[in-house]
Amino acid sequence: MTIGIDIGGTRIKGVLIDAATGNVLHRVVCPTNDSEDGRWKSAVLDTFRQLKAAAGGPVTGVGLSAPGIPNPANDAILCMPGRLPGLEHFVWADYFGAPVRVLNDAHAALMAEARYGAARDIRNALMLTLGTGVGGGLLVNGQLYQGYFQMAGHLGHITTDADSDYLGISNMPGNIEDAIGNSTVARRSYDRYKTTHELVDAYRQNEPLATLVWLTSIRRLAVTIAGLANAFSPEVVVLGGGIVQADDALFGPLKAFLDVFEWRPAGKFTTLRKAHFEDWAGAIGAAGAVGGEG
Ligand code: BGC
Repeated sequence: MTIGIDIGGTRIKGVLIDAATGNVLHRVVCPTNDSEDGRWKSAVLDTFRQLKAAAGGPVTGVGLSAPGIPNPANDAILCMPGRLPGLEHFVWADYFGAPVRVLNDAHAALMAEARYGAARDIRNALMLTLGTGVGGGLLVNGQLYQGYFQMAGHLGHITTDADSDYLGISNMPGNIEDAIGNSTVARRSYDRYKTTHELVDAYRQNEPLATLVWLTSIRRLAVTIAGLANAFSPEVVVLGGGIVQADDALFGPLKAFLDVFEWRPAGKFTTLRKAHFEDWAGAIGAAGAVGGEG
């Protein structure tokens, strides 16, 4: 048994899994409250304790999935400006009193999908996690590609509008994270909607502003995916994170925009798949990565 904990912008999700099969034996979830400095850390510790108690026996290790770039030792997040105050350089093993392997959240999510989920048996895949931020992961020849500094896969920082005057936390004008992530819904909708859930509900009812905002976001996502397909030629693109709960309201227009924008030589096209584990993939992938390297 291993434990995986994912620190999301909205919720902290923890799982106890059977690492051989990926079967989830127990789940714990609580709100993150990341605006209040420090409090989110005790919620993470509490999640760990609950999972340890649920195991009722020895646990092989703990994986922690968080936004940002992990340090070379994979025991802390080295860099994540603008979110989760106090995350950078915080060594989780000291706090838990147990060894902890720290991974980027989208890398963890991709590993869960590649091992047990939507990209199982696929050698070349991309993952985009659509949540508070937008994360990414690259599976190249069956391996997670991390590049120099474990930074590769920050697909949310790719721009869809170089002329935008909004830089966001990644300092990249018009990046896809700000074009679709939860943290910009109010800004994108002139404060009419606070969450993607509200926005998508209004879109389903044909509310004009919601329709404009949502379809603009999806058009940008489609162009990003089409560009990534040109660069990496994946067999499958897996979409995860809380926003995939929009389901047909996301996948319907996204496929329609891809029909327009994707380069399809000789009829080759990229298959889109919804993450099998939806927004639990980070926690499951972190649990599955315990004992791994790098
Ligand atoms: C961060 C990434 C993270 C993504 C999803 C982005 O803002 O830069 O490291 O993977 O959000 O949480």
